[in-house]
Amino acid sequence: MTPTTIRDRYLKANPTSAAAATRAERVLPGGDTRAAGFHLPFPITVERGEGAWLWDLDHNAYVDLAGNYTSLVHGNAYPPAIEAASRAMRDGTAWPARNLYQFELAEAIVDRVASVDQIRFANSGTEAGMLALNTAKVITGRSKVLMARFGYHGSHEAFEYGSFDGRFHVPGTDDTLLATYGDPESFEAVLSEHGAEIAAVFLEPVMGSGGIVDAPPAFYQRVERAARDAGALFVIDEVIAFRLAVGGAQSALGVTPDLTMFGKLIGGGFPVGAVGGKAEHMAVMDPRAPKLFHSGTFNGNPVTMAAGAVSVEHLTDAAIAEMARLAERLDVGLRAAAADAGVPLSVRRVGSLLNIYFSETLPEASLRRQDAKMMGAFHLAGMVNGLYFAPRGMLVISTAMDDAIIDDCIARASLAMGEARDEVQSAG
Ligand SMILES: Cc1ncc(COP(=O)(O)O)c(C=O)c1O
Repeated sequence: MTPTTIRDRYLKANPTSAAAATRAERVLPGGDTRAAGFHLPFPITVERGEGAWLWDLDHNAYVDLAGNYTSLVHGNAYPPAIEAASRAMRDGTAWPARNLYQFELAEAIVDRVASVDQIRFANSGTEAGMLALNTAKVITGRSKVLMARFGYHGSHEAFEYGSFDGRFHVPGTDDTLLATYGDPESFEAVLSEHGAEIAAVFLEPVMGSGGIVDAPPAFYQRVERAARDAGALFVIDEVIAFRLAVGGAQSALGVTPDLTMFGKLIGGGFPVGAVGGKAEHMAVMDPRAPKLFHSGTFNGNPVTMAAGAVSVEHLTDAAIAEMARLAERLDVGLRAAAADAGVPLSVRRVGSLLNIYFSETLPEASLRRQDAKMMGAFHLAGMVNGLYFAPRGMLVISTAMDDAIIDDCIARASLAMGEARDEVQSAG
């Protein structure tokens, strides 16, 4: 009898999701509408989420270590956010004029982030990136952008080029310059050669999509200085990193960005994006004397704003510290499990974010990993053992988790590691 493969077990556990995949493939390319979470043979179709758990159409339960790619900082269907959204929704879901919920969320963010005097809402982090870039272009009269290779600032052609090191290039968009994350000299070199054409320099405090890669504060400070010397705006992308400190990750880096991008957690589980910054820069969008036309049918809708205010207000110092403690517990437990299983494991961890690599040494970024076979096998084995996490090995903690759930994750991961190891070894 041939041994059952991890793939066979996944197929056996997910007949309803398999049928849903066939249905979806007729009307959605590859059955999907979002690239990051896709994996073979097909992703599960989710039916429900609650707290730290997800369930699929076949009623398999998973510990949710994706947290919708970090946006669900308080877990699935966080009751206070759902309550706030439901209350708001009873009065309507979108209005053509401003609403009080916008002011509350804007105040919550402005009061926390020292560099942000004012804020402007949009509907995704991608839109936040586009708005920040357009603002910088209008202010400087320049067209180019400098970002880190493997940085991620949204699904927009100006940034996608850098996120995948040139792999995706939408024709006609040649204004993106790249430098090496963590290497201030490489940014300084590009700025000294092309500074006069560069509208803005974008940086994540931690490269999220790149694999939870961070750098010492001096890196961000030197890039900020070089950007200012070149007359470019300095933009910090807190779409993921805002979960790391009440004042934003930037508060620990000793930088004062001109503009900050927000998204994910500030929507309380609903679609959102925002750009904040110094009042003098934000003034380009002031509708009383606009230099940039920024609009959006759903910008600042009451449902997102009401849930978002709860999400931000509940993200306290204590909550952030507790998530980091749980992340460390997971990190230690996964390393011990890997040692027991006899597989090499490296972990990048910043606060409540982790990325795992089945190698002795850390690659420059996720896209440069050498462990694709073991990572793929562990991901599918993780699913079979009730762990849901990003296929690239990102694991995310939420405030809905506790020690018992983390220990449960470690036990499940331990089983998955052994199964993945056996399969990879037997495949040679
Ligand atoms: C750092 C960062 N910026 C921007 C974005 C884009 O946000 P969205 O997916 O909401 O468009 C993401 C999304 O993952 C992100 O991680």
